[in-house]
Amino acid sequence: VWTEQERAFIQEIFGKLNYEEAGPKALSRVLIVYPWTQRYFGNFGNLYNAEAIINNPMVAAHGKVVLRGLERAMKNMDDIKNTYKELSVLHSEKLRVDPDNFKLLADCLTIVIAASMRNSFTPEKQAAWQKFLAVVVSALCRQYY
Ligand code: HEM
Repeated sequence: VWTEQERAFIQEIFGKLNYEEAGPKALSRVLIVYPWTQRYFGNFGNLYNAEAIINNPMVAAHGKVVLRGLERAMKNMDDIKNTYKELSVLHSEKLRVDPDNFKLLADCLTIVIAASMRNSFTPEKQAAWQKFLAVVVSALCRQYY
């Protein structure tokens, strides 16, 4: 259950989010900080070092895909579990992504947003945002149980 204030904060954050920039930054951060996540992107070409990851066009493109995926959750905030049904099946049964990694990506995205919004990312906005990402992560994990 979301308060009007939380909904407004989540929408504000999405409104300020530059997908072209934040998506690639968040995904490349996961791949650099948690290098074991690279194993799922074996078809993405050169992930040899941080510079290669940051300049990899497939990483950049997929970062935007992930944000568009998150946008679907934002537009369906009262039904995130059903919205992510197929995405959860895909990540568990087909891609076999360890669900711990969802949290890592969520945290990297929060860091990217904090760096970009700076002082306007207040603790109250962060609280709403973390709650949103927690619901997203739990919806993505659902197929695993
Ligand atoms: C594909 C969203 C986390 C690995 C996708 C797709 C979306 C998506 C929308 C495209 C699905 C399609 O083509 O139908 C998300 C969201 C995440 C998340 C919203 C969490 C917030 C992760 C994590 C990993 C991962 C943590 C691995 C560490 C992949 C891979 C693909 C994929 C390997 C297929 C990429 C390709 O070959 O094009 N994801 N994802 N995802 N995701 Fe995720």
